[in-house]
Amino acid sequence: MGMARTRLVAGNWKMHGSRAANRALLDAIVKAMGKGASAECAVCVPFPYLQQVSGQLAGTALAWGAQNVSEHAQGAYTGEVSAAMLAEFGCRYVIVGHSERRHLYCESDAQVAAKFAAAQGAGLVPILCVGETLAERDAGLTEEVVARQLDAVLGKGAFSDAVLAYEPVWAIGTGRTATPHQAQAVHAFLRKRLSREARILYGGSVKAGNATALFAMPDIDGGLIGGASLVAQEFLAIVQAAAKG
Ligand code: PGA
Repeated sequence: MGMARTRLVAGNWKMHGSRAANRALLDAIVKAMGKGASAECAVCVPFPYLQQVSGQLAGTALAWGAQNVSEHAQGAYTGEVSAAMLAEFGCRYVIVGHSERRHLYCESDAQVAAKFAAAQGAGLVPILCVGETLAERDAGLTEEVVARQLDAVLGKGAFSDAVLAYEPVWAIGTGRTATPHQAQAVHAFLRKRLSREARILYGGSVKAGNATALFAMPDIDGGLIGGASLVAQEFLAIVQAAAKG
């Protein structure tokens, strides 16, 4: 890994969990993390569990965050959660612009940029997700798409301290990971638009078995982990892979 970029492994639980399952999962992760070198790591959990997670993880090396945030500070926005509320629960991170939000909930580049700014304004570290669909990749539009998604946010303010996650839509939850070289090519392209210190995570079917090869690439600074973050041994193995080399 180049420069002083500390690797980060962030779990995205999506809409999974229960109080009992969360407790067992976090217990197993925190116990094992105590031993040996570790990369930075975090779990991004559903809103109702922030209270539980903040209680269980306070004082541990595992940070926590949310998966979405309102672009508004407060007001008549039924069902929404503000960045200040997330900060009150000790969140360090919040995912913005995940492809499921963009596609299932029609979040536009402009709305994602506003969410990014709201998160930074409350002192949170946004994890901005960008990525192309399979049709876009096949049409040779990958760079154009991720540049458009990133530039919408860069125009809104500084990226310093934020985290970027490249998540090809065709690799999310499909078991079809981008090859290390496919991912590296896009990361290198994105790196040119950012400072050399910015962290760029890869996401999309990262597992214990492919993490080492992905993290060996010079511009891959860690991972955003969906399915594998729900299994303690898988998540821990990915964190260990990130902690090496
Ligand atoms: P996956 O999800 O690891 O299950 O593919 C990644 C993500 O959506 O962040």
